[in-house]
Amino acid sequence: MTILETIFKDHQPLKLLNLTYLRYKSFARFWTHNGAAMSQEIPGPLNSLVGDCRGLVLDIGPGTGELLKRFNPEGITAIYGVEPAADLHTGLLKNAQEAGFGEKYHALLCGGEPESLIPALHKNGILSTSGTNEDGIFDEICCLRVLCGVPQPEATIKGLYTLLKPGGRMVICEHVVNPWRTEGRIDARVMQFVYSILGWPFFLGGCEMQRHTGEFLRKAGVVTGANKGIGLAIVRQLALQYPKSPLHSGPFLIYLTARDQGRGEAALKDLHDDVQLKKAKALKSDGGESEIRYHQLDITDRKSVESFAAHLKQEHGDGVDFVINNAGIAMNGFDANIVKTTLGCNYYNTVEACHMFLPLLKPEGRIVNVASMSGHLNKYADDIRNRFLAAKSESDITSIMKDFASAVEAGKEKEAGFPSAAYAVSKAGLIGATKALARAEEEKGSKILVNACCPGYVNTDMTKGNGTKSPDEGAQTPVLLALADIKGTTGGFWQHEKPIEW
Ligand SMILES: NC(=O)c1ccc[n+]([C@@H]2O[C@H](COP(=O)([O-])OP(=O)(O)OC[C@H]3O[C@@H](n4cnc5c(N)ncnc54)[C@H](OP(=O)(O)O)[C@@H]3O)[C@@H](O)[C@H]2O)c1
Repeated sequence: MTILETIFKDHQPLKLLNLTYLRYKSFARFWTHNGAAMSQEIPGPLNSLVGDCRGLVLDIGPGTGELLKRFNPEGITAIYGVEPAADLHTGLLKNAQEAGFGEKYHALLCGGEPESLIPALHKNGILSTSGTNEDGIFDEICCLRVLCGVPQPEATIKGLYTLLKPGGRMVICEHVVNPWRTEGRIDARVMQFVYSILGWPFFLGGCEMQRHTGEFLRKAGVVTGANKGIGLAIVRQLALQYPKSPLHSGPFLIYLTARDQGRGEAALKDLHDDVQLKKAKALKSDGGESEIRYHQLDITDRKSVESFAAHLKQEHGDGVDFVINNAGIAMNGFDANIVKTTLGCNYYNTVEACHMFLPLLKPEGRIVNVASMSGHLNKYADDIRNRFLAAKSESDITSIMKDFASAVEAGKEKEAGFPSAAYAVSKAGLIGATKALARAEEEKGSKILVNACCPGYVNTDMTKGNGTKSPDEGAQTPVLLALADIKGTTGGFWQHEKPIEW
């Protein structure tokens, strides 16, 4: 019908070559006829959520404004409807009048993605021409059945959050893939699939019913060995720094993982009672955006790693944003057994954890490996240092680790050019493996960033109270590598928040 109308009614046959035009027009046709009926039934809580909207409101993709009558115009100073389908504007403005908005309603002909929306907001004088509305201007941003259809959901959501005032609200109601394994239904899931292959997204304004929209709205990160010391401080700092970080865009879930459930849950409780977190209103329980959840994870126990990986896969269909591999051990003494256990945890198991987590990251996700300055190469004979530096792959580094363990077994590590220090060699191996993993990701064309860092000499149980930095200070570089704009740096070894020579 849309094609016939374009040729015979609008007399614009050349427009058939413009797929974007056709998509919007066919959606406008569909929505003009069915929008009212499809807006009768909406999830219960949405009525009060939109009814409570106040101040300056941005409504993304209102269609013909069928839902406007559910808003209360009294507390709203102005509402801007962002609707890219021009054919829907007449109906939209009519419904806005009927809903009692009068002069307060303004329809913008643009999309919700920043490159379309920001110029339209400038043009209409809503955003200042200097373009820097750092703290956002809207009190409320409504996305009602629209994020399932935007071409770049992640960039769009991030852009919308920057337009929201601190303390502002996002009101979101979206199609999601039917969770048939849990509370959904298999027949509904099958129908979503059938509709999709019949071309639903093309004709319905790009609506992808099978999109994991919830995942785009939520950022998530993992910290290992987080029940105490630097790991616990990393979780605290992540919650404190997230709202002002470049990663910021909506709710943030931090997995505080620990090998012991009792210690993990006690750490979680400490964070919920933390005065600084409360004062900053960082946690969801205090009205903030960050939620911290405990999950068991012993990196030396394969079953535990697999079970946590399965949990992430199930909960985060589109991946997590970062993993900070902080868990590590430093044992007293030096012999072949200590070397085996230390290399086991700090090198082999940490690198295995990287392999387990890499496929569970978002396409631009990050791995941060907490290594140490003791892994610096200045303690090695030239030939070993050169082997580390020339290593191209993880197996090159692993063969150095094996040679170290064999030399210790034979009591000849010094002659072989190694220090008599299990911890230091394990951390040198971790830095080398980090560089190898980063290289392998780059070669695959992946945008995942893999970096290693030294937190500094930190006062924790590991340093028996001798460290000179506080755990919060030690957390700064790992947190920067997870949250900040590090200009695409990968394979780096960082200290004091800067990349350094290995
Ligand atoms: N402190 C420093 O000056 C310093 C300097 C350079 C690098 N680092 C590195 O920073 C990281 C944190 O050190 P820290 O000083 O905070 O040490 P810490 O206080 O001893 O904490 C180490 C953490 O790792 C956990 N852990 C150990 N083995 C684990 C395993 N198999 N699975 C899961 N978690 C495990 C511990 O859990 P439990 O409580 O259950 O033992 C603890 O939560 C380590 O990788 C360390 O090598 C520290």
